[in-house]
Amino acid sequence: MKNQIGVLSLLLWLGIHQGRSQQRLNSLNSPDGKLKLEVISAENGNVSYTLDYNGKTVIKPSRLGFQLAKPQLALDTFRVIEIQTSSEDSSWEPVLGEVKTIRNHYNELELLLEGATGIQIKVRFRVFDDGMGFRYEFPEQPKLDHFIVGEELTEFAMAGNHHAYWLPGDYDTNEYLYNTSRLSEVDALEAAGKEKDIAFPTLIGRDYVQTPLMMKTEDGLYINLHEAALVNYSTMQLELDRENFKFTAHLVPDAVGNKGYLETPALSPWRTVLVSDVPEAILASKMILNLNEPHEMEDTSWIKPQKFIGVWWEMHIGKGSWDLASGQHAANTENVKKYIDFAGEFGFDGVLVEGWNTGWEDWFGHWKEDVFDFVTPYADYDIEGLTAYASQKGVKLIMHHETSGSVTNYERRMDAAFRYMKDFGMNTVKTGYVGKIIPRGEHHDGQWMNNHYVRVAKKAAAYQIMVEAHEPSHPTGLHRTYPNWIANEAARGNEFNNAPALGITPEHQTILPFTRLIGGPMDFTPGLFHFKLNQFVPSRTTEVRTTLAKQLALYVTMYSPLQMAGDLPENYRKYPDAFRFIADVPVDWQDTRILDAEPGDYIIIARKDKASEDWYIGGITDEHERISELNLDFLTRGTSYTATIYKDGKDAHWDHKPESYVIESRKLKPGTVLKIQMAAGGGFAIRIKANE
Ligand code: NOJ
Ligand code: CA
Repeated sequence: MKNQIGVLSLLLWLGIHQGRSQQRLNSLNSPDGKLKLEVISAENGNVSYTLDYNGKTVIKPSRLGFQLAKPQLALDTFRVIEIQTSSEDSSWEPVLGEVKTIRNHYNELELLLEGATGIQIKVRFRVFDDGMGFRYEFPEQPKLDHFIVGEELTEFAMAGNHHAYWLPGDYDTNEYLYNTSRLSEVDALEAAGKEKDIAFPTLIGRDYVQTPLMMKTEDGLYINLHEAALVNYSTMQLELDRENFKFTAHLVPDAVGNKGYLETPALSPWRTVLVSDVPEAILASKMILNLNEPHEMEDTSWIKPQKFIGVWWEMHIGKGSWDLASGQHAANTENVKKYIDFAGEFGFDGVLVEGWNTGWEDWFGHWKEDVFDFVTPYADYDIEGLTAYASQKGVKLIMHHETSGSVTNYERRMDAAFRYMKDFGMNTVKTGYVGKIIPRGEHHDGQWMNNHYVRVAKKAAAYQIMVEAHEPSHPTGLHRTYPNWIANEAARGNEFNNAPALGITPEHQTILPFTRLIGGPMDFTPGLFHFKLNQFVPSRTTEVRTTLAKQLALYVTMYSPLQMAGDLPENYRKYPDAFRFIADVPVDWQDTRILDAEPGDYIIIARKDKASEDWYIGGITDEHERISELNLDFLTRGTSYTATIYKDGKDAHWDHKPESYVIESRKLKPGTVLKIQMAAGGGFAIRIKANE
């Protein structure tokens, strides 16, 4: 329910403030009063905003506006026409999620501004208890219909030299390792220079970083900058003025250097600032989802949470390969049957099969257009037989559409590809965008590709197919609007443990929930149980820097309604008691409690299964060992519980004893305090079962 608080006559307001060079136009608080937004108009017509949290500055005066490329003009000085305020307090239920119900509670301020040559734009601010979002709206109007964006001029001026968790700005990839430094020390080119395993980076320059950008201030504020509802617009990267700690939006260009083709009425994505003095509130925030539009599907009953295994890691670690010509083709009928058997035995929903289709012999690095047709299996892959076999075991095959970046090809073949999936009873596709994009010159993060990802989600929905994309642009909460687009990779996932240069550091998984996952669920592919990656190729030196218990914890700390058990069945069979946790853990939740967290250090999260009274807890640490004290006061009074605790062994250590774990069973009740030791690079997982 929207409640109109009032319309302010600007003439009157400005009248009061006349004679000053800066005019405070209006201010707006969050519902709890802690966050305060102010909008200021300067004498020269610049309009800017500030944000405070409990009296501490979050955003210093930061300008709003655009440079248009066509018509060529700056929209950065304005006459303020009207200000309106309103508020909202409602709730809604996500189809799949971390909680059953989400509250959408904010105060809103809408500015109607008139810029050059009488063009009108609106800026809509929403202030929630945990942050603030604003977007630009271009209403239908006589003076603007089709236009081309040259650059968005939005600023985010930080109040100090904050500690930041950042990725180098790049138009094509978000698969970098995180860097942590003061803002003044950001050097994207130096950081990217250490990366050798990103095939086609498109760096912007030294002073550019990506969002979600996490920061921590000297006086204990946690701030996250990102965007929500990235639709028909290019991705926002940030240019940093290192002397003044000020970020300015930098939109990803298209093949000819333009940044967006819009037609009124048009909307920008929301620019978002999450703020809290406790890090747990950043992880618990639902603001990005709230800023996305509700879905319009009548029936969502076909959208299901999923756990799957796959013919996948064995190719990454060199046991097999995707292509047939190599003579090591992994996606052959006999091998896939073993995975189906395993999935059936442990109650998995699906088996992903990569390399099932023709085209892998020259799929990579040629910028080739007609690379895959998505409907022709290799000769040794009996898709009919396997479909029937899987169905007997209660398992579905999961489709793989690697586009190799040739998106024109995929667009032409998508209908046939989805029909083919339906013919074989498949309901989920993993898409992939490895390599340089075709249309040539477009970027993974540009407007054209952002529209493509949405087109795929919509088309898949028409076939009742669920989608998870690898190598898309950063997620922005669109899983609310397109609930069949259930997860994405869009960051450095577990597979990068096998990348020789930097791999994955033990702190990486403690940063991802504060950064990448702010935009939505991640297909991190946890659950690796074999750590030295020379199992099949003795010369390999790569290793998974984790303990086994930490891999279990990731199913809880790394939210996704679609989770893979990444490793090989034979590796799981070596540790059947530990594997039990992966077989048991649900991936859809009715409640979530962030128990303890600090970006770059540790994360402990408890979640309640959507379908039962059982709770699951995951705890992870970086390269330091820690003792965590868990207060289980969230358990239901009057209910007794039995916990199975999977934790690091006393001698566990990510480097020299990753396989060391202990499994304990004990009775629990509400208020029990559990003390658990996490090894360096380790963690723990707990299943808390309500006794009947
Ligand atoms: C990159 C994806 O992230 C990975 O999961 C997949 O196996 C390869 N591309 C091949 O498509
Ligand atoms: Ca990838």
